[in-house]
Amino acid sequence: MLNITVLVSGGGTNLQAIIDGIENKTVTNTRIVSVISNNKGVKSLERAQKAGIPAECVSPKDYESREAFNEALLSKVNEYKPDLVVLAGFLVAIPKAMVEAYENRIINIHPSLIPSFCGVGYYGLKVHERALERGVKVTGATVHFVNEGMDEGPIIDQRAVYIEDNDTPEILQKRVMEQAEWIILPKAIDDIANGRLEVIDKRVIRK
Ligand code: GRF
Repeated sequence: MLNITVLVSGGGTNLQAIIDGIENKTVTNTRIVSVISNNKGVKSLERAQKAGIPAECVSPKDYESREAFNEALLSKVNEYKPDLVVLAGFLVAIPKAMVEAYENRIINIHPSLIPSFCGVGYYGLKVHERALERGVKVTGATVHFVNEGMDEGPIIDQRAVYIEDNDTPEILQKRVMEQAEWIILPKAIDDIANGRLEVIDKRVIRK
């Protein structure tokens, strides 16, 4: 059984896709042992509570410094002893100590085809605004292992989504979520839970 902790910041639609995947058995051999948000009162915490999953908030606002928050976040994650940490719309930089403690055991969903439209400043709606500004015809989502860089870890899976003429950032975000994020993130978890992936020389190989 793969015990996972899901880190969230907002709406939690990716968290919901994982919850639903476990429910409908497209995600197997997996248990969500906790959901941790950096923001209080967000929908993702409600989604966890509704599903009977321990849901907590570790907010930077409650700590004197970023270092103190980082330590509190890592110790909260450690409390649940997860095999895998899933960043599902989590908008906080992962502390180096956590990346080291969970090497190749943290995954992230990013709403573009990395290496396009990623890195510092590319998160949430901003990613889609940049894609529309650049006029790309295809975008999508990427699920990857987290390393010390920003959106630079080994890529597990990607799925493309066509951009349409009258897309707004909001319309595009929704399409990328529905047609890419909510599919490849649960699938990556199922692959990891069933031992189908291996990281060799920073590349993910399907066994
Ligand atoms: C999603 O677009 C995700 O790719 C990005 O944050 C957005 C919100 O995700 N990281 P969610 O609805 O909170 O899962």
